[in-house]
Amino acid sequence: MNHPEIVRYIEKAQQAQMTEGEIRDALFRAGWVPGDIIEAFQSVKGSFASDLPAPRHNTMISAYGVKKYFGDVKALEGIDLEVPMGSVLALLGPNGAGKTTLVKIMTTLLSPTEGSVHIGGYDVAREGSKVREIIGLAGQHAAIDEYLTGRENLQLIGRLCHLEEDRVKRKSEELLQRFDLLDAADRSAKTYSGGMRKRLDLAASLMSNPQVVFLDEPTTGLDPRSRNELWSIVKELVATGVTILLTTQYLEEADHLADQIAVIDHGRLIAKGTSRELKSMIGGEILDFHVTRHEMIHRAGEAIGNLGTEKPRIDEASGHVTLPVKQGSQALIEAVRRLDMAHVPLEDIILRRPTLDEVFLKLTGHPAENEHA
Ligand SMILES: Nc1ncnc2c1ncn2[C@@H]1O[C@H](COP(=O)(O)OP(=O)(O)O)[C@@H](O)[C@H]1O
Ligand SMILES: [Mg+2]
Repeated sequence: MNHPEIVRYIEKAQQAQMTEGEIRDALFRAGWVPGDIIEAFQSVKGSFASDLPAPRHNTMISAYGVKKYFGDVKALEGIDLEVPMGSVLALLGPNGAGKTTLVKIMTTLLSPTEGSVHIGGYDVAREGSKVREIIGLAGQHAAIDEYLTGRENLQLIGRLCHLEEDRVKRKSEELLQRFDLLDAADRSAKTYSGGMRKRLDLAASLMSNPQVVFLDEPTTGLDPRSRNELWSIVKELVATGVTILLTTQYLEEADHLADQIAVIDHGRLIAKGTSRELKSMIGGEILDFHVTRHEMIHRAGEAIGNLGTEKPRIDEASGHVTLPVKQGSQALIEAVRRLDMAHVPLEDIILRRPTLDEVFLKLTGHPAENEHA
């Protein structure tokens, strides 16, 4: 969509001898999205506007054409993303997809081979220190000092962020309390469980009150209870207006937390959308059952052959059949009826959400785990 007010601003700024980079920055900072800015540049004509135009919406994170090569390894092959202020974007992908590489570029720890990233309007390449002032990062592997206590870890981070001493104290107590770490605050971090480490790491990333928080696989390796605790902390953060980009290997996690999901594989975005949109790509739900007698599996496959949005997937060795279906409960009833008519006894039958692997299979034509050792 073209926005005449940006076009007018660009024309006026050019008259005032501003460089293209300066104009882009001013527009970014005013909250315009890069796509609109690029389009406006392309259609600059001769008229004038007086003031910086008001934004339609605020974009906190934007990435354009981001590539990262490590020698021959093409970790990222052109990533475009925009994350509106106060929302959560989940970057969903298997091991080796490029998630950590992108997070590192966005948090100024790596520079891209090509492309640009802006955080809160600041360019990560040219304004790294500004970017670091407004972000928090909880990396894939918790960056805590094992030999310090939980409290000391937080205070250390606060001092590294140049917070005033009383603020360091106040903020670390607040976070210890909020993350349920007060009881363990005086123990060295090496005695912490995996869940406690992840909480401490996340707490550390919040010491400086960041506007944008990056969480790289925040729940990988956590038990369900710790995972749920982390999820509620993320939701609380978003409720206070913080913008979050998190990476995950789990569709369920993206589903639960994210406003938008970007699916990444082999360094490319292969799909973007809400969880509803992504799931509808693979036909809603999955009918999943085991036959009691494995030799009957093909008869079962034939009986339900045309019930789904695709052909059933049959695993003879385990007697396992899966079938993507649209109208879940109706399909379930119909499947049970047909299998009964065909005299195929069932071990179990359920209707479930698609897994990440199934989303992958649909989007890429290959199962995720075969491609990534
Ligand atoms: N420093 C590096 N040197 C060489 N290859 C790397 C480096 N970092 C990551 N890679 C490669 O880039 C790809 C993406 O890695 P990564 O971003 O860590 O994926 P993810 O976080 O999704 O598991 C992988 O093939 C990985 O081996
Ligand atoms: Mg990673």
